[in-house]
Amino acid sequence: MSNTNTTASDSSFESPPTATSLFENREFVLVSNREPYTHERDDGSITVVRPAGGLTSALDPMMASTGGTWVAWGSGGADDEASDENGCVRVPPESPSYELKRVSLTEEQVRNYYYGYSNKVLWPLCHSDTAKVTSDARFWRQYRETNRQFAAAVRERTDPSNAVIWFQDYHFALAPRYIRDQSPGAFCMQFWHIPWPSWDVFQSCPQYEELLDGLLANDLLGFHLDQYCQNFLDCVSHALDADVDRNRGRIDYDGRTVRVAAFPLGIDTAERRTLAEGKEAGEQWESLRKTYRIPDEGQLALGVDRLDYTKGIEQRLAALEHLWEWYPDCRERLTYVQKATESRSRIDEYQHLQANVGARVERINDRFGTETWQPVISINDHLPQSALAALYREADICLVSSLRDGMNLVAKEFVASQVADPGVLVLSELVGAHEELGESALTVHPNDTEAFAATVDQARMMEPEERSNRMRRLREQVETNDIEQWKRNVLREASDILHGC
Ligand code: G6P
Repeated sequence: MSNTNTTASDSSFESPPTATSLFENREFVLVSNREPYTHERDDGSITVVRPAGGLTSALDPMMASTGGTWVAWGSGGADDEASDENGCVRVPPESPSYELKRVSLTEEQVRNYYYGYSNKVLWPLCHSDTAKVTSDARFWRQYRETNRQFAAAVRERTDPSNAVIWFQDYHFALAPRYIRDQSPGAFCMQFWHIPWPSWDVFQSCPQYEELLDGLLANDLLGFHLDQYCQNFLDCVSHALDADVDRNRGRIDYDGRTVRVAAFPLGIDTAERRTLAEGKEAGEQWESLRKTYRIPDEGQLALGVDRLDYTKGIEQRLAALEHLWEWYPDCRERLTYVQKATESRSRIDEYQHLQANVGARVERINDRFGTETWQPVISINDHLPQSALAALYREADICLVSSLRDGMNLVAKEFVASQVADPGVLVLSELVGAHEELGESALTVHPNDTEAFAATVDQARMMEPEERSNRMRRLREQVETNDIEQWKRNVLREASDILHGC
């Protein structure tokens, strides 16, 4: 899409803004479903765990520097014990700098709001996989209720009329409306971390009107890509009585103006680099090699994913199987490490995926494995960040093969962790990150198995000079558009709106 008018950026803004400097005395409140830290009981003592997923790991460093309150579902087994009587605890644990307010959800809410409407309706819908959408009246009822509860939790912490409230993701399409109806002076913004589908797909959801109305209670609505902004604007113009300015990314609706803009999410590149260069990563690498019997010789391809059907893990394995079958040279020379994190396992589709991935890995290992070599090594255990950094650093090839993906931060993490001999990024053209990284990565279509396999072979054979040229360009891109830049652009845009610029 050539129209870039809805892409917001402000490179002239030099020193990192803080929420307080930009929003004067307004309180800063971030709302997401997933919390950045859970407390769990482990053998009698309480431990802190960082849940998997790009959203929380991207926003925690930002909150740590910005300060304020983060409101989220208290999903950890020992969250209650670790929080005060208002459900609050200061985090990050190692150097507390912001308040985490936990919202308790009942089992019924978890079933219908989280697993139900959020992950059996909105998730597949926004990833344009309508065949996986499941309808159930209870899902929508509880989604509404839970959005109301989160709006109330925000109100417990602050007067919304005197705050900047930043909602994250598809779990909260209605909460901005519940805030706005009671506090018209609130400043609400939302970042939608997953794709926004085209109107013909979105229309298949019967609640399309209420969802759009809820989101339009924000002052600013952000997506990763201009394409998603255009899809959203298109949906609004079809579904609501609103004035939509596609070029300027503005919607006049219900007597207010809403700004819609693209802010491609980045990562904390400095943190990734430090982790990858650290002594701990070196030690972790030695231990990973022993534990999982990763060979010393040959090349290493890596995949890092939540076990989600959008990630194209089965397609990736099909391509690798094809590779080992038709490019016998690769046998015993290319090993694939799959670091997978179990996710949303109460949903049938996710259970099927886990079973299918497991079966495929077993079949490949049976077909091509030898006494001394196993083609696919699955790592399902939780790994510390330094071990993940070691995998990223040591990988010769990183495979990102999503069928649809809002952004995909794994691609960026791999690039930022390439501190030694540069590897090759193989990237699906269907992920958001392809817009920024596609030119210097090797592009694949996850469903074109033969071409995918050929591209992995091309990555394997790439000359060092080409590898390092490509990686240098990738690194420049990832370092320039990092999390700081993202935060700066979003907050600057919000501040401009707030100050009527
Ligand atoms: C994606 C979503 C996040 C979500 C994460 C992990 O990145 O955009 O909102 O937190 O997946 O999924 P989970 O359902 O475990 O929170």
